[in-house]
Amino acid sequence: MNIIESAFGDHAKLFTMVNDNGVQLAVTDFGARIVHLNVPINNERRELILGFDSAEEYIAKDHYIGATIGRVAGRIANGSFQLNQTNYQVVKNENDNTLHGGPDSFEMAYWQSETDISDNKVSTSFTHTSPNQNNGFPGNLTVKVTYTLDNDNVWQVSYEANSDAMTLFNPTNHVYFNLTGHPGMSVADHMLSIDADHFAPLDDQNLTTGEQRDVAQTAFDFRKAKQVNEALISADPQNQLVSGLDHPFLLNQATDSASPQARLVSPDKKVAINMRTTAPSVVVFTANFGDGYQLPMRQEQLINHGGITLETQVAPGAEKYPAFGNIVLPANEVYQATTRFDIDI
Ligand code: GAL
Repeated sequence: MNIIESAFGDHAKLFTMVNDNGVQLAVTDFGARIVHLNVPINNERRELILGFDSAEEYIAKDHYIGATIGRVAGRIANGSFQLNQTNYQVVKNENDNTLHGGPDSFEMAYWQSETDISDNKVSTSFTHTSPNQNNGFPGNLTVKVTYTLDNDNVWQVSYEANSDAMTLFNPTNHVYFNLTGHPGMSVADHMLSIDADHFAPLDDQNLTTGEQRDVAQTAFDFRKAKQVNEALISADPQNQLVSGLDHPFLLNQATDSASPQARLVSPDKKVAINMRTTAPSVVVFTANFGDGYQLPMRQEQLINHGGITLETQVAPGAEKYPAFGNIVLPANEVYQATTRFDIDI
């Protein structure tokens, strides 16, 4: 077990955690972000996630990739919500809506870091306080995100937070997997399963509508493993709307279940990710950046559908649709959530 600290651009730091099997999990204090998940496969190494080589490159190209997202992941319609009979207006940053907590949120902050090594696991924690009225959200909100890697090849991300005033809080981690190791290859041939009987349809602004639609007879039925491609080529208006998947799946099981709530398998079957979470949903985004999209990434070009996210959270829109789950954090109460990804190599 080891943690190697290095520079990650002009101001940021990179913490590369290594377990006894040679699995590497690298995270940066810039955005409390995952940068590498790199594993040995036979005599080679394979990078399982998208990322860049410095904080500056994220700022220039895509600041959401791999980041901790908050205060509220996903979209708040019109940037407005009610809390305790008070109306709040938060800063809009995508058309008429507030995406991922508004401009310059968690993903752009330099977090305080702390590392810990023990016999069987290594961890790096990041702490950040979002001040009262940041982008219009109430409460001084302190958030701690801990990334852990253990000798069973489990990567875990856990959140702890509290606020001095009642507020909304619904964080996630915006990791993009590509288990081929190549951002230049589509994730179409990955096998995906998700234990969800329902998904949340979107309107033409990518906002949830409150509906919980049965996945049966739709391209959203991943209860048995199938190729991601089936959702990419589907004629379902919900898939056509976003050119793939950008939808919350409402998870069936409690976390103590033996089987994972989602599983992603590489086309060559040499590596798989098993996900379990305390969150009630997972937003799956198939990196629908558009036909012909190319973005230089690690000596390759990231392409349309060159990654797939498993963003565990309460489904976006919960401030309006309480049936999705509760994202109200009362004053001085402790928020806790955990997601674990078992790496099957
Ligand atoms: C996802 C969201 C997408 C897109 C992406 C950011 O969480 O669902 O619509 O905004 O973040 O690149």
